Amino acid sequence: MKRIVILISGRGSNMLAIADACRAERWEAEISAVISSRPDAAGLDSAAVRGIPTVVVDHRQHADRTAFDAALAAAIDSFAPDLLVLAGFMRILTTPFVSRYAGRMVNVHPSLLPAFTGLHTHRRAIEAGCKLAGATVHFVTPELDHGPIIAQAVVPVLPGDDEASLAARVLQAEHEMLPRAVRWLVDDALHVDGAGIVRHRSGEPQAFFSTGLSAAAADAAPG
Ligand code: GAR
Repeated sequence: MKRIVILISGRGSNMLAIADACRAERWEAEISAVISSRPDAAGLDSAAVRGIPTVVVDHRQHADRTAFDAALAAAIDSFAPDLLVLAGFMRILTTPFVSRYAGRMVNVHPSLLPAFTGLHTHRRAIEAGCKLAGATVHFVTPELDHGPIIAQAVVPVLPGDDEASLAARVLQAEHEMLPRAVRWLVDDALHVDGAGIVRHRSGEPQAFFSTGLSAAAADAAPG
């Protein structure tokens, strides 16, 4: 039975997608805890409703990143997780922290990496005139929003999209992709090849295309 700790900072909808898939599909895993960097994160209540232990490590209560990361690591290690999932966790982590969990910490980022690392990904994709957008699940390495790519989900950018409408479309795709990716890790279904590329051992597709993608693209095409 693998032990999963999920880190959040807000709404926690991706955390719930993982927790619900874990239960519905009877994974060989449990969500041991949800840890939030903010005391007011809505995801804390939804985790508690599901009976998942919750912990707050408030970043504002710590003098600097090193102190915060030390407190966070202590909270995480008390649950002895096999796997750490950053699901809407909005803190930059120090290199010692990342190294401590190397190979067992993954992040979901709302862009098709390596495009649009950092913040405001949807606004930047719209402003750049992107026709496609999406999200990426990757192993966490010290460089922000880099690290071997486990899965990517693609959605169309539609005429008239604003940041909110595109974010909602991408989020829906994240809810499909992230539980799949976490399950692969639970099942030890992934390996990193000699070139640093993450491969599914059975060749399962690591790309997710939102349903209706080509219909949406056709709608978007002029006359
Ligand atoms: C998600 O879209 C996730 O990709 C993004 O925050 C949102 C969290 O939503 N993460 C980042 O921007 C990390 N840099 P949720 O709290 O409802 O899962």
